[in-house]
Amino acid sequence: MSALENKRVLLGITGGIAAYKAAELVRLLVQAKAQVQVVMTPAAANFITPLTMQALSGRSVRQEMFDTEQEAVMGHIDLARWADLILVAPASADFISRLAVGMANDLLATLCLATTAPIALAPAMNREMWQNQATQQNVTVLSQREVEIWGPADGEQACGEVGPGRMLEPMQLLRQVSDHFSPGVLQGVQVLLTAGPTQEPIDPVRYVGNRSSGRMGYALASAFIQQGATVTLISGPVSLDTPVGVQRVDVETALEMEREVIARLDQCDIFVACAAVADYRCEEVAGQKIKKSQDRLEMSMVRNPDILQQVASAASAPFTVGFAAETERLAELAEAKRNAKGVDMIAANLVGGDQGGFGSAENALTVLWEGGGADLPMMDKKRLAQDLVELIAKKYHEKD
Ligand code: PMT
Repeated sequence: MSALENKRVLLGITGGIAAYKAAELVRLLVQAKAQVQVVMTPAAANFITPLTMQALSGRSVRQEMFDTEQEAVMGHIDLARWADLILVAPASADFISRLAVGMANDLLATLCLATTAPIALAPAMNREMWQNQATQQNVTVLSQREVEIWGPADGEQACGEVGPGRMLEPMQLLRQVSDHFSPGVLQGVQVLLTAGPTQEPIDPVRYVGNRSSGRMGYALASAFIQQGATVTLISGPVSLDTPVGVQRVDVETALEMEREVIARLDQCDIFVACAAVADYRCEEVAGQKIKKSQDRLEMSMVRNPDILQQVASAASAPFTVGFAAETERLAELAEAKRNAKGVDMIAANLVGGDQGGFGSAENALTVLWEGGGADLPMMDKKRLAQDLVELIAKKYHEKD
């Protein structure tokens, strides 16, 4: 069952260009089986039509405070009582300031004053307006009153400027709403995750790499986010989109990955090493492209540091999960790796041939921990990641 099934979301839309994104948000909320009642300020109707919102929500859109016809159906006080959550997206600077001083000069502001339901705002405005002391003070006042502030994001703005003030994307807002009603089991937990391959340079144009696509690690990042964790993903070179809500740090080599992981170790509760890190790197990287002048080319390689082992043996080590990629005797070799690296849990997969693992959409895992284990059969990496994260969360909380 969806966490939003039959939840009553009153979506307030105020006047701003991001109002067009509210249409997609309504569609997503309805798809997640929430009941959505849209209330628009007069300014919002300059950016998106009430008819669009009505068609998507399946409910008549409320705009006017003194609409005798509408008040006969559900008065503004009934509306305020109806909501399980009031989400204002986009929330303009003007609306935020009116809310902060408790004005009731339109239907939406009045509802917010009259409700006992939680209120969340998704601010959207020009970056200077967002950074203005007046707006920041209003936001502080509202936060102190336990109004949730979701966003804004940083990035390119409709006005052409770049900076903080973009409304969160509809998908991100959907996740916030979902988390609001069903906070995951890893709420407040900081997860550090490695994913993808590393590429060890030979010369300016060549490298030693491997076939990791990053799919398994990226699916894990999403699954951790779904459980409410804060996720930092240290990623080797892959061509995948960053999962919504994940902070991604791009690296190329094992040494870079090691540096980025170690730098964040003190803010990490769970560490998962899903990256296929090269065990060796070239002892010397040629400054110029190597020419094919000789029949044989010999390269000397040196060991890379073992990132997982370092994390597991740190003084205040987080709950540490390693992966093991094996081509044979899966459980036996994985158990040996778990012991050798001193990790809390190891997720082992068969790789090579057509047995999942590298690059494929599906995978199967044998998960081992001290005194126990579980087999997760072949399935889509996204579902597999959700199952693995559930196991990790359970063991993490048991150890806590
Ligand atoms: O990315 P995909 O295409 O989706 O494929 C997923 C995967 C097959 C890459 C993934 O499921 C997986 O098995 N990742 C680990 C691959 C690997 O390098 O395994 P390993 O057995 O060589 O290493 C054991 C563990 O030590 C791993 O957690 C690895 O991240 C870690 N390690 C290894 C070497 C090193 N120098 N530092 C490390 O931290």
